Amino acid sequence: MKFVKKSKKGYTPTKEGKKEGQSPPDVYKESKKNRVEFWAKIAREEIDWIKPFKKKYSQKKDSFSWFEDGKLNLCYNALDRHLKKRDRPAIIFIPENQDEKKIEISYKELYKKVNEASALLKKKGVKKEDIVAIYMPPIPEALIFMLACARIGAAHSVVFSAFSPEALRMRIQDGGAKVLVTSNYYFRKGKKMNLSKKVRKACKGLKIKKIVIDRKKAGKTFKKKNPKIIEPEPMNAEDLAFILYTSGTTGKPKGVMHAVGGYTLQAYTSARYIFNLREGERMWCTADIGWITGHTYTCYGPLLNGATTILYEGLLTFPKQDRFLKIIRENKVNAFYTAPTALRMFAINDSYTQKYKNNSLKVLGTVGEPIDEETWNWFFKKIGKGRCPIVDTYWQTETGAAVIASLPGHGPFIPSYAGKPFPGIEYTVINNKRKKASPYEQGLLVQSPPFSPSLIRGVWKNKKRYKKYFIGKYYNASDNAFYDKEGNFRILGRSDDIIKVAGHRMSTAEIENVIESLPKVVEAAIVGKEDKIKGTKVIAFVRTKSPISEKRIIKEVSKKIGPISKPSKVYFVKDIPKTRSGKMMRRILKGLLEGNEIKNTSTLINPESVREIKEIINKN
Ligand code: PRX
Repeated sequence: MKFVKKSKKGYTPTKEGKKEGQSPPDVYKESKKNRVEFWAKIAREEIDWIKPFKKKYSQKKDSFSWFEDGKLNLCYNALDRHLKKRDRPAIIFIPENQDEKKIEISYKELYKKVNEASALLKKKGVKKEDIVAIYMPPIPEALIFMLACARIGAAHSVVFSAFSPEALRMRIQDGGAKVLVTSNYYFRKGKKMNLSKKVRKACKGLKIKKIVIDRKKAGKTFKKKNPKIIEPEPMNAEDLAFILYTSGTTGKPKGVMHAVGGYTLQAYTSARYIFNLREGERMWCTADIGWITGHTYTCYGPLLNGATTILYEGLLTFPKQDRFLKIIRENKVNAFYTAPTALRMFAINDSYTQKYKNNSLKVLGTVGEPIDEETWNWFFKKIGKGRCPIVDTYWQTETGAAVIASLPGHGPFIPSYAGKPFPGIEYTVINNKRKKASPYEQGLLVQSPPFSPSLIRGVWKNKKRYKKYFIGKYYNASDNAFYDKEGNFRILGRSDDIIKVAGHRMSTAEIENVIESLPKVVEAAIVGKEDKIKGTKVIAFVRTKSPISEKRIIKEVSKKIGPISKPSKVYFVKDIPKTRSGKMMRRILKGLLEGNEIKNTSTLINPESVREIKEIINKN
């Protein structure tokens, strides 16, 4: 079935496309009348409450809340309420190794497993409001424990399994986690990746209880026929749902806090409206559960809608380029959601795509970084076969769910534009004078109050940092953007010192701190350089006291943070351009990498460094 047709600027839905769309036809008009009521109505009618709310939205000087006097449970909404359709698969787990059988877990089975896991957490002493660290590969038990935490009112703090022991340790300590749930190993690119070793290192000297899932039994643990049922904990809507660490502009990652009520509502609604998810549909979000995308669209979003989530353990192109298409075909995936970096990888030697019809697909989605027109068109033609809308979803760890995206039933789908703000949410662009920018004028992307239900409620143990998210009356997204005359937004990239490498969020300061911790290094500056596949790659400029090899520096970053943050290139320089106040001018370094002429160096304390670095770049 064809869901889209060509329009002047891009594509719009066909009649079938409109019918398929899960958002009401008048959703934009209706939501604009009263944004708070728009959300409250969905919350009332489509979310299950233990105690219904009366208060909808309130805002104070440094905080805001949704459904403050209501009580609910996220796990109940994701699981218990679908038990009538008990045999439908909730999770389809696909191991990387093709000789290992895939595992389907029905809602009924998942319910039992989550209850058993909840009892285990309780046995380990976990109570409401405790933090549970989860350091696991994408196997069903990762989702089972996320849901179990939500069930008993504990907050999970998931740590990406490719992060280093140091990164895990920092997150365990900062969060004050009581229990760590982990796995002994997992498979990636056919190789066995040892997690136990990393966990041992990370937890040395820490008082933390551990639950270790044997990877061999992935999807097959918690087999009791009649486990003890643990009643879902009634949570206040503003209680903490989970924390998730993400990179900030300082060297230390920050724990982004999400609230139960707002998160449940927005994860549910966005998954439904953006991916057309409804009972029985199948969604494959390729993001790891260590990132917010994995939280919202691999775990909670599909389950809140009674849909089926596809969970794949390994590399999308393993053992061959077409693995992801095989998975789509074999599992009749309806919504496929991935990152532009993955798409650019798929597009290399793409004749294999001709062998696949991809008939089951209805919606294609991208996330995490701006998507270039070429990649957008490739995705549209080669994977969607010109039939499916592409939803370019813009959001952040802080927003908890997608906030700007074209809805399948509405469109328009314009390459490189994320589209309109999600119904019930208002974004705008402001210029340097903090005035609303005109169409096509570039500026800072901000969200206007009333703030979206799943927007960040706090930074773990850091109230001061939380306040910095707001400028004037707005939430500051720290992204540059503009919008066109029809109100479609185009995201241009971060306005701060955060870089996105292969869709992964990285703090330049965090990588710099690691390099500067090497005794032979005086200082380091990290900048992003455009890359054909990854979108951006990490480049380091390093000033040393005594010689040190490029390899040693790369190794240190890999060890302390994880391989995803490794610099692709290290330039050894005599000096790093700085202002009189000592601020490193990463912008100038970026300009030099791009081969730009650096004109104004008058604000620098060391303008001669610019010429020197230019020569070094040219030589290499
Ligand atoms: O710069 C924006 C970029 O990713 C940042 C958020 O990163 P993170 O918290 O890791 O969450 C990523 C997944 C939700 C944003 O500030 N970004 C995200 N989606 C898009 C995007 N840039 C352009 N287009 C997008 N669709």
